[in-house]
Amino acid sequence: MHPSLVTSLSLLSLLFSSVAASVKPPSLDPWYSQPRNISEYEAGAVIRSRSVNTKLEALLTLPMDVSVKSVVQYLFRTTDSLGKAAASVVTLIEPRNSDPTKLLGYQVYYDSANVDSSPSYLIQTRNETLDFYEPDFGMIGAALNKGWWVYTTDYEGLDAQYTAGLQSGHAVLDSTRAVLKEGPSKGLSNNPRYALWGYSGGSLASAWAAELQHSYAPELNFSGVTLGGTVPNITSVTQTINNGSSAGLAFSGTFGTAKAFPNMTEWLNQTLIPSKSAEFYSIANGSYYYANAAGANKDMFSFFKGGERAFLDPVPRTVFQLSGTLGFHGVPVAPLFVYKAVKDQVSPIKDTDKLIASYCAQGARIQYQRDLNGSHASEGLAGSVDAFSWVSDRLSGNSVNSGCTTKVVEIVSLDPKGASLFGKKLYAALS
Ligand SMILES: *[C@@H]1O[C@H](CO)[C@@H](O)[C@H](O)[C@H]1NC(C)=O
Ligand SMILES: *[C@@H]1O[C@H](CO)[C@@H](O)[C@H](O)[C@H]1NC(C)=O
Ligand SMILES: *[C@@H]1O[C@H](CO)[C@@H](O)[C@H](O)[C@H]1NC(C)=O
Ligand SMILES: *[C@@H]1O[C@H](CO)[C@@H](O)[C@H](O)[C@H]1NC(C)=O
Ligand SMILES: *[C@@H]1O[C@H](CO)[C@@H](O)[C@H](O)[C@H]1NC(C)=O
Ligand SMILES: *[C@@H]1O[C@H](CO)[C@@H](O)[C@H](O)[C@H]1NC(C)=O
Ligand SMILES: *[C@@H]1O[C@H](CO)[C@@H](O)[C@H](O)[C@H]1NC(C)=O
Ligand SMILES: *[C@@H]1O[C@H](CO)[C@@H](O)[C@H](O)[C@H]1NC(C)=O
Ligand SMILES: *[C@@H]1O[C@H](CO)[C@@H](O)[C@H](O)[C@H]1NC(C)=O
Repeated sequence: MHPSLVTSLSLLSLLFSSVAASVKPPSLDPWYSQPRNISEYEAGAVIRSRSVNTKLEALLTLPMDVSVKSVVQYLFRTTDSLGKAAASVVTLIEPRNSDPTKLLGYQVYYDSANVDSSPSYLIQTRNETLDFYEPDFGMIGAALNKGWWVYTTDYEGLDAQYTAGLQSGHAVLDSTRAVLKEGPSKGLSNNPRYALWGYSGGSLASAWAAELQHSYAPELNFSGVTLGGTVPNITSVTQTINNGSSAGLAFSGTFGTAKAFPNMTEWLNQTLIPSKSAEFYSIANGSYYYANAAGANKDMFSFFKGGERAFLDPVPRTVFQLSGTLGFHGVPVAPLFVYKAVKDQVSPIKDTDKLIASYCAQGARIQYQRDLNGSHASEGLAGSVDAFSWVSDRLSGNSVNSGCTTKVVEIVSLDPKGASLFGKKLYAALS
């Protein structure tokens, strides 16, 4: 290679990394601060906004070229799990050659009680000490290349209240309000079709949004909501993953929930064994990968006085019932597509079967796909082709039948339809 080309390339990469490095993590970035007069704002109102670099590192490192025309972030008002005004952040991405009538809210599974794992930050800069949600960002890239506008919400809020269902659902609904209100000034249609999608932790936020929508944001009209690797019952998830490879999530989930409720913050402080408290918080406050590595195969209950029985105390019991269990706050109005591995080893299939049966008995419209093959991790990819195709149908305005259907599938390899949906490059990389 010609020496001057080498020089300009390394200059370019220097320039590029200095741009990325100048993005501050939320814990150090005053833009993320909540205004004192937060309760003066209406739910969904924008408090401040900023344009960010269109070179989103999370998308640049995908095995595909992703079309991005503009990226704007909004700090908006939402409602926390106690019903109090709180702020959160949403990132709205406009693709090149966009179809302004199509809008997808994609909730990524950040699965961390650390605010520096928020998608608004990690989508901008691949911070190697933190996380990188490759499969989710792949779907976001594919959606943008279809010309859809995409928004992704820091649904855990400014305090990273991981698994706090009420907070997460409210934040998704209010970010939708904010995007529908502000988007048209950026070129989004005044009346777009819009849908939600999320897998695992992202399905938690999306499902809570779907369940709370009728009571909390009755004016919204989602064309559809796609939920994969559903986690309807956090108590059951905690019992299931404890002592296993995903046990770190139990630490983060317990901490994330506790942050949302003063009585549970107090309970955690009182009930952790003092000599083990520092280790608990170090795992619980880590990024997804850090918590997974540091918490793997640990018995989270052994950090508590009384062990697992401590979680039967009134405080954790009432809090997990209130904000960790789906099925008690309403019935989704929007049609749902739900995909789930029968052998999901993070959230038992029976919890999802029960939730779907309950929603269906109350008039929901659900296509439920149970995959006899695969695990919690592999179903994210295995189910993605059907999920994408279903979202695409909804954004095109195709109607769904009323009532519920359950389909049993055995997905052993990625459906070839994925090549046209995701683009050949991404499909090849995922296959
Ligand atoms: C990455 O995140 C860590 C933890 O929040 C932070 O200390 C560090 O400054 C970040 N690095 C960059 C390049 O932003
Ligand atoms: C909140 O306070 C800021 C700074 O004083 C002010 O600019 C803003 O208008 C206030 N917002 C509302 C909704 O009252
Ligand atoms: C919601 O949108 C669907 C199409 O996506 C439409 O058929 C329906 O009439 C809308 N409902 C309301 C209340 O606007
Ligand atoms: C949630 O899981 C816990 C623990 O397995 C169980 O006791 C509880 O009944 C479940 N809740 C629902 C609504 O299924
Ligand atoms: C509980 O909080 C007090 C006061 O902040 C602190 O000194 C103590 O270490 C905490 N206990 C545990 C188990 O975290
Ligand atoms: C968790 O990490 C964040 C950001 O790195 C930091 O600001 C916060 O103080 C930490 N909290 C605990 C309890 O360690
Ligand atoms: C977790 O594993 C430990 C041994 O490492 C065992 O003593 C404990 O009973 C297990 N706890 C549960 C809830 O399975
Ligand atoms: C803990 O706080 C939540 C939220 O205010 C409340 O619903 C729950 O009943 C409380 N639990 C107890 C045991 O007081
Ligand atoms: C798929 O699942 C079915 C039913 O459990 C099983 O018979 C089959 O061997 C599985 N195939 C693969 C490739 O895992």
